[in-house]
Amino acid sequence: MSINRDKANLPKHVAIIMDGNGRWAKKQGAKRIFGHKNAIKAVREATEGCAELGVDFLTLYAFSTENWDRPKAEVFGLMKLLVSTIRSETKTLTKNNVKLRAIGDISKLPADCQKELQEAIQLTEGNTGLTLVLALSYSGRWDITQATQRMSEDFKEGKIDVIEQDTIKQYLSTASMPDPELLIRTSGEQRISNFLLWEIAYTELFFTNILWPDFRREVLHEAIGAFQNRERRYGKTSEQLTT
Ligand code: IPE
Ligand code: IPE
Ligand code: MG
Repeated sequence: MSINRDKANLPKHVAIIMDGNGRWAKKQGAKRIFGHKNAIKAVREATEGCAELGVDFLTLYAFSTENWDRPKAEVFGLMKLLVSTIRSETKTLTKNNVKLRAIGDISKLPADCQKELQEAIQLTEGNTGLTLVLALSYSGRWDITQATQRMSEDFKEGKIDVIEQDTIKQYLSTASMPDPELLIRTSGEQRISNFLLWEIAYTELFFTNILWPDFRREVLHEAIGAFQNRERRYGKTSEQLTT
């Protein structure tokens, strides 16, 4: 799919709900973890695809608050995979000038995961290209809740005296990022599953039947192409946009 590569026409922030690893594995008669292992190539494709286009932020939903309720062995397998992937990919991130960040309740992750993540964040801190944001132990409601708790503390202490939309944004874990213009979900499900609830108020949604391990940059281009053909009206009329 040919897309307009002018920076002004590209989303600055793409968010992805990487779904369908389990079904991908099942189709091959393999265990779910096999699907998670084969998801890494797709993560690389999405990251490199966004980096080469000059997208500023890519946020990947890697593990939700609700995913803690999966069978223990799967959760353990996912955490182990997270550690080994961060370890093996950090060099490539730097080669591609990608800066790593994480959002979510990181203190809930196993200690070795937290350590590996912090190290990779520090090592890639100086990179100036794409910022790759991993949403880990994250949910939109968790974020709005922690933001509200911190905001009410600051309000009580007199650090803030008014609460407006921008105030709320400042307390979210996505404070320093623009809202995503484009949200992609793979695997055919058409739901948000507690991802960036506040931030997607005016995000364009793109759903594809592709299962996450099969995601390649062509799918990213297809989503961006569809995005570029949408008219974003923000509540206004079509006529207002052209005058
Ligand atoms: C997405 O794939 C990965 C995570 C949620 C961690 P799934 O594991 O949800 O795969 P399906 O949806 O069961 O196919
Ligand atoms: C959403 O996928 C979470 C991630 C991709 C990390 P799920 O597979 O957990 O979502 P549901 O359960 O189908 O809504
Ligand atoms: Mg799923």
